[in-house]
Amino acid sequence: MKIERCVALVTGANRGLGAAFARGLLAAGAAKVYAAARDPAAVTLKGVVPVRLDVTRPDDVAALARELGDVTLLVNNAGIGEFGPLLAEGALDSLQRQFETNAAGPLRLVQAFAPVLARNGGGAVVNMLSVLSWLALPGRSGGYSASKAAGWALSNALRQELKAQGTALLAVHAGFIDTDMARGAPGPKLDPDDVVRQALAALEAGQAELLADAATRKVHAGLAGDPPVYIGTGA
Ligand SMILES: NC(=O)c1ccc[n+]([C@@H]2O[C@H](COP(=O)([O-])OP(=O)(O)OC[C@H]3O[C@@H](n4cnc5c(N)ncnc54)[C@H](OP(=O)(O)O)[C@@H]3O)[C@@H](O)[C@H]2O)c1
Repeated sequence: MKIERCVALVTGANRGLGAAFARGLLAAGAAKVYAAARDPAAVTLKGVVPVRLDVTRPDDVAALARELGDVTLLVNNAGIGEFGPLLAEGALDSLQRQFETNAAGPLRLVQAFAPVLARNGGGAVVNMLSVLSWLALPGRSGGYSASKAAGWALSNALRQELKAQGTALLAVHAGFIDTDMARGAPGPKLDPDDVVRQALAALEAGQAELLADAATRKVHAGLAGDPPVYIGTGA
């Protein structure tokens, strides 16, 4: 995948990591960046093409795929994080919202845009996942972690299916990134622009997976630990 002259669609591009993806893609020479947002007026970055998209709305997604026939790179970045215990009231509703946005949303986008990517020579998909795909912060991230674990499983299955049409899929796992989503989280956070630089380099190198920081690599290594990291008390 060459970033230069690619035509990218970034979901949730109005703020946070999505805005950093849009900036980074332009800086790396993308021919066009469609910056998708629930409110396109919230996209302030110059040089991108704002488009309206709520990833939980199947009709919106299908209409956008019919409209944007030149896309060669889909960045599934949009996501929500609702943090609290699974045993609390409302946890099931919260889980469903997070599944709909973080797991079903990216799948819906890939289903709609796979034919577009195929027609344009294959291209690539980036799915933005998390270190919390592999463990839960006790009493805090059960629902979010479940949605990102589902996103991970879907990414692994989709990568195999997309291979037949020459489309690559990069899954990006990261610890806390300095955006609104991680505002309440303690400790140092990753610079969104650095995560994007790493993701674009991984795409160009043809990697299937990017573990963007030391904490994420440690948790990944701990999956084979004794006990495995996800049995423990959390990150
Ligand atoms: N921040 C972290 O520590 C961290 C770590 C690892 C992975 N991630 C993942 O990285 C991605 C970006 O997160 P972020 O940190 O940039 O979060 P953020 O600052 O909260 O931004 C989330 C973005 O997703 C959009 N969005 C939410 N629901 C949407 C929907 N239904 N349809 C379309 N857009 C929607 C938001 O749009 P609105 O402005 O309309 O709400 C916003 O643009 C997410 O997938 C997140 O899970 C984040």
